[in-house]
Amino acid sequence: MKKILFIIGSLREGSFNRQLVREAKQMIGARAEVTYLNYTDVPLINQDIEFPEPEAVARLRAAVKEADALWVFTPEYNFSYPGHMKNLFDWLSRPLVAGDYDTPTVINGKKVALSGAGGKMATAKCREKLTELLTFIKADVMEPQTGIALNMEAWTEGRMILSDEQRAALKAQVEAVFKD
Ligand SMILES: Cc1cc2nc3c(=O)[nH]c(=O)nc-3n(C[C@H](O)[C@H](O)[C@H](O)COP(=O)(O)O)c2cc1C
Repeated sequence: MKKILFIIGSLREGSFNRQLVREAKQMIGARAEVTYLNYTDVPLINQDIEFPEPEAVARLRAAVKEADALWVFTPEYNFSYPGHMKNLFDWLSRPLVAGDYDTPTVINGKKVALSGAGGKMATAKCREKLTELLTFIKADVMEPQTGIALNMEAWTEGRMILSDEQRAALKAQVEAVFKD
């Protein structure tokens, strides 16, 4: 069975992206073992503490290594991705041993699916920039991606209700992740 690691780019309890994760999880059903990355203890990237890797970074790398694919659900912050997403991927881009740039990192070649719920641009800028970052660190960004433009009800009631079209887009992404 495939192992999928969900990474939620919002730390907020009532996060719409967290709600989107629940929809995706339901669509995945029994097709995968889904785990959630807890990254709140991952320190800010600092070259003074890279070697040996901090314990939280070791856990992060182990979780990524174990997964067949990552699936990032993230809000857009100022036409980009949240800073804590950058911090995670900066850690994952670094070697385990100082100066060892020959051994592939755990993110090298890793399949990554991207989705995001946000304002009317449906997180397009965020996903565009995240795709650029992930490609640079040699991850394998999967297509299609899903962008959800939240409707008025979501903003006023804090509850995300997907339209038929949005649900179909998410379903198509789920099918693409599981096509082989
Ligand atoms: C610092 C910051 C910057 C934001 N910039 C954008 C933006 O550029 N585009 C957008 O659609 N929403 C932006 N938002 C609004 C978020 O998309 C919105 O709050 C969304 O609900 C956050 O996702 P979450 O519900 O999963 O926490 C921003 C929010 C914050 C906190």
